[in-house]
Amino acid sequence: MILLVGGEKGGSCKTTTATNLAVVMAQRGVDVMLLDADPQCTASKWVARRNAAELPMIHCAQKTGEVYATANDLAKRYELVIVDAGGRDSKELRSAMVAADLLLMPIQASIADLETIEHMAEVIGMAKAMNSTLEVMAMIARAPTNPSITEVAEARELLADYPEIGLARSIVRDRKIYRDALLEGRGVVEMDNTKARAEIQLLANEIFGER
Ligand SMILES: Nc1ncnc2c1ncn2[C@@H]1O[C@H](COP(=O)(O)OP(=O)(O)OP(=O)(O)O)[C@@H](O)[C@H]1O
Ligand SMILES: [Mg+2]
Repeated sequence: MILLVGGEKGGSCKTTTATNLAVVMAQRGVDVMLLDADPQCTASKWVARRNAAELPMIHCAQKTGEVYATANDLAKRYELVIVDAGGRDSKELRSAMVAADLLLMPIQASIADLETIEHMAEVIGMAKAMNSTLEVMAMIARAPTNPSITEVAEARELLADYPEIGLARSIVRDRKIYRDALLEGRGVVEMDNTKARAEIQLLANEIFGER
């Protein structure tokens, strides 16, 4: 399976989601490859910090530009390829969308995100012409931790015009532990925060099924 964590909004939690899902699935015994398709190399640097700390290995490859062939080739060798494509409309994002089974798109229910979704919907349409089985799921990310359903309602409203984009039940909330984990080369499931751990486990269950 090829999971692309992408979108045109910078800083929306894409690399955080990609790295955290990679750790959870590796812990579950899945053969995971993290494909870093962002020229900023945030995911690769996270892997380097991970390796320096001698944490369990997450395989990682870097490829920028056209990533279609690389993603497909890696998908023959690994059970799960997670592609982190950076936060803008790019060759990496577009070519990964043609290879992906699922595009997971972290969003915040803000006007800035709404504006990028409009354009993303166009790009998704083009990708689907070449990859008809591509599924697309938005996910509310960096939502405030105070229990509230407002952001869910807002996101639903925001996505109502785009029936091709589903909305994940899982929400990744804004928690300092995600920033700490990124800096330490860890997934939150390797850290001491039960709420963040549960969040990522639920997200993994929703995307990949319980296993
Ligand atoms: N759920 C969260 N809670 C708190 N901080 C977060 C969360 N998700 C991401 N961050 C922080 O926000 C910053 C941007 O996150 P991240 O790198 O995952 O975003 P991105 O979408 O990959 O950005 P880019 O578009 O630059 O690739 C990082 O400092 C990260 O630690
Ligand atoms: Mg990133």
